[in-house]
Amino acid sequence: MAKPLVLGNWKMNGSIPANAELLKGLRDWDAKKVELGVCPPAVYLPQCQVVLNGSDVRWGGQDVSTHPEGAYTGEVSARMLRELGSHYVLVGHSERRQYHGETDALVAEKFKVAQAAGLVPVLCIGETQAEREAEQTLAVIERQLQAAIDAVGIAQMAGTVVAYEPVWAIGTGLTASPEQAQAVHAAIRAQLGDVGAKVQVLYGGSVKPDNAAELFGQRDIDGALVGGASLKASDFLAIAKAAV
Ligand code: 13P
Repeated sequence: MAKPLVLGNWKMNGSIPANAELLKGLRDWDAKKVELGVCPPAVYLPQCQVVLNGSDVRWGGQDVSTHPEGAYTGEVSARMLRELGSHYVLVGHSERRQYHGETDALVAEKFKVAQAAGLVPVLCIGETQAEREAEQTLAVIERQLQAAIDAVGIAQMAGTVVAYEPVWAIGTGLTASPEQAQAVHAAIRAQLGDVGAKVQVLYGGSVKPDNAAELFGQRDIDGALVGGASLKASDFLAIAKAAV
């Protein structure tokens, strides 16, 4: 089975002094049993590179352009992320889908471009509250995941990361119960077939030190994508330790 991974999504948070404090608290992490990574706003990637270089902690972007370079104001390319030592990049976070109109097709293209550039793409998928209430959860997850599988081919899914983040559980304090999350994770693993064992399937949505252990206790939950609680070193490390 894939090694657990705990990844922090800082979203649009941070400042140079606050990041310095946070990164100092993380850089001694020993990744023998659990991988640890941070995804700061792109402007702070150089700071992560300076502080985390030589440590076990990895870093990455929160989004990537589908274009290699050129007249795309505001965009950041996969090569630029690599140039700053990024290991990961999130694609298709629900906030990108919701506020920036990202479609399954665009997200799948980002997934493909990121992988081709040598990044590990983290495909974020998840249903809204309305979709869950309409019992569409598994259909939505399957559709979002299939778009990426179709873009790269099933074999190329090995070594990538999928993050299941129910939209209704993000930043709300509501978490999927361990059983609800496990049911979706099992469906994701099944859809991945033979490569399922080579994909880290993370849960995201209000993961905190006090609920991490029971989530990680589920068979198909390989770690977490953490928002709010990744901004405080002690909370983020407590979550990571729960995955050991
Ligand atoms: P919270 O942990 O703040 O709910 O955010 C989850 C998330 O969206 C991580 O990508």
